[in-house]
Amino acid sequence: MNRKYILLFIPLCLLCFVLSSCTKKTTETKGIILGFSQIGAESAWRNCNTRSVQEAAAEAGIQLLFFNAEQKQENQIKAIRSFIAYQVDVIAFVPIVSDGWENVLEEARRAEIPVLICDREINVYSENLYAGYLGTNMLQEGRSAAEYLLKKFTDPETGRITANRRNPIRIVELQGNEGSAPAIFRAEGFREMIAEYPGFEIIYSKSGDFLRSKGYELMCEILEEQFEFHVIYSHNDSMTLGAIDAMKERGIKPGEDIVIISIDAEQAAIDALKRGEINCVVECNPKQGPDIMRLASRLARKETIPRVIFMEEEVFTEWDDLSNIAPRGY
Ligand code: AHR
Repeated sequence: MNRKYILLFIPLCLLCFVLSSCTKKTTETKGIILGFSQIGAESAWRNCNTRSVQEAAAEAGIQLLFFNAEQKQENQIKAIRSFIAYQVDVIAFVPIVSDGWENVLEEARRAEIPVLICDREINVYSENLYAGYLGTNMLQEGRSAAEYLLKKFTDPETGRITANRRNPIRIVELQGNEGSAPAIFRAEGFREMIAEYPGFEIIYSKSGDFLRSKGYELMCEILEEQFEFHVIYSHNDSMTLGAIDAMKERGIKPGEDIVIISIDAEQAAIDALKRGEINCVVECNPKQGPDIMRLASRLARKETIPRVIFMEEEVFTEWDDLSNIAPRGY
């Protein structure tokens, strides 16, 4: 072949390759119907999670039947039953709480519709009731929060923890909604790490349902009672930001008078970390849409998927160089 033809031939091959991979992508995902039950819109994190799912479905050409459960498990069960009646290819849902899913999952299994659990893990008698879980490692998020705490109260010279029974560090914990995987695991991971140090005392622990308004209300109550505490460990940024509002109204300097540890890493929390009003933010990654679509298309093709896939996450602290954090998008 002469040189002129070879030069024409190479770009042509490349074009064919690009076109064939595009066709492959659409034939793999196009026409798939995915029923997705979201729990609601309680936080900026949740809204980003919803956007990620909707955008990724549109991008993949997957038809998304989206239901917002408005924080009610019964609405989620109804939505899943309607997906079964509609005979969708795949069901995915974010379980508001861990327990109580067996019956509806048995129904999906009988209808031979694969189910992907997203964001929050569930507690069921058999793993065979669903195909797999994609979300974040919430036990690790709790552990990471405690790791920061331990470091914060370690004497850099001796390497010893400065908190002890006589000078305890008193912790206020704002929990997520009761019975949910993040509330359970973030509490467990945190406690597991501080268990051997009697100088850390969790003196208060209540659910603020992941809501900014409840974080604010709980902090108002706490401050009215006037008990002494040194640390707030909050299971999400929305509650943290509400608690910070309440503290500032009373002239308390968050991040300085009280050490604040939060989970999610939404933009407003990163900005507060930069201002010194939060000391540590553990990331919980909401951008799960593309992975959900990838797994849904595998499930629609009757492939098996890994039992558990965790998203990648970071921890941001007051000791880090915070100048280069990319905009969070939530
Ligand atoms: O399930 C993830 C949690 O739910 C996030 O931490 C919180 O912000 C959300 O609403």
